[in-house]
Amino acid sequence: MSPHADAVASLYRPMKRGGWIVRRWGKDIPLRGYWSPARPVSDVISLDRDRDTWMSLMPVEVESQQIAVDCAAGHVAVFGLGLGWLAALCAVKDEVESVTAVECDAELIALHAELGLFERLPGGAGAKVTIVQGDAFSWRPDRAVDLLAADIWLPIVGGDRVADVRRMQANVGAARVYFWGQELEIARHSVAAGRRRLDDGDIADTVRALGLPLAGLDFPGYAERLGSAVDQWMGENWFSELRPEGFVEAFQSSFGS
Ligand SMILES: C[S@@+](CC[C@H](N)C(=O)[O-])C[C@H]1O[C@@H](n2cnc3c(N)ncnc32)[C@H](O)[C@@H]1O
Repeated sequence: MSPHADAVASLYRPMKRGGWIVRRWGKDIPLRGYWSPARPVSDVISLDRDRDTWMSLMPVEVESQQIAVDCAAGHVAVFGLGLGWLAALCAVKDEVESVTAVECDAELIALHAELGLFERLPGGAGAKVTIVQGDAFSWRPDRAVDLLAADIWLPIVGGDRVADVRRMQANVGAARVYFWGQELEIARHSVAAGRRRLDDGDIADTVRALGLPLAGLDFPGYAERLGSAVDQWMGENWFSELRPEGFVEAFQSSFGS
């Protein structure tokens, strides 16, 4: 976890703006991580709109943003502002010079103006952050982007996320790209191509075929973590009847997300 995670988490408070609601949940709610097993968690913050939770500080969200945080350096373009968690954790890193957060929703940007998260980041790191109202599929940078960190989706897996990210990257030309749910996407493409071991070699071959400069593959224990995320979150979202070697349909049926 980021060394600044607790400090940043403490800056949120329940509030409403337009259709957006920031809530604080109760105590000792059992929640699974992205790769780690379920554990009781208290005072989780979430960002909701209508019946959807767009972002939260549940273990699954915190863990699944962490690789992007670890890869962040130089100029980082964050697509999808949400709670501003990813943008904030990137900004507080010394290696990060600037963060451009691209968000399509004017009401959410107004919520952030009222929340003042970035103004209160440790060390004045919020001065590195620029929020731009724009569409992730059409925004173009005015200077080089070292990392594109994309997170504009509601479900953690589904749809054609690789095609989405290719469209973004065609405009951005980032040196490296990380997108939310990347591990699940790599896994389903890998298995559909007949690479069912999901080890480092399968992952490298699959990423090469995807044609995106994906970051994070050197994260410690990447293949093992990818496997754990698959077991906990892939559900029925495979591209074919094929499954990874040794895959056991577990967890999903007894534990809703
Ligand atoms: C899952 S949240 C992002 C959470 C964020 N990573 C965080 O750390 O808080 C997705 C965000 O993407 C925004 N969004 C959805 N589609 C978009 C688009 N086409 N362009 C820009 N932002 C978009 C949503 O309004 C929402 O704020």
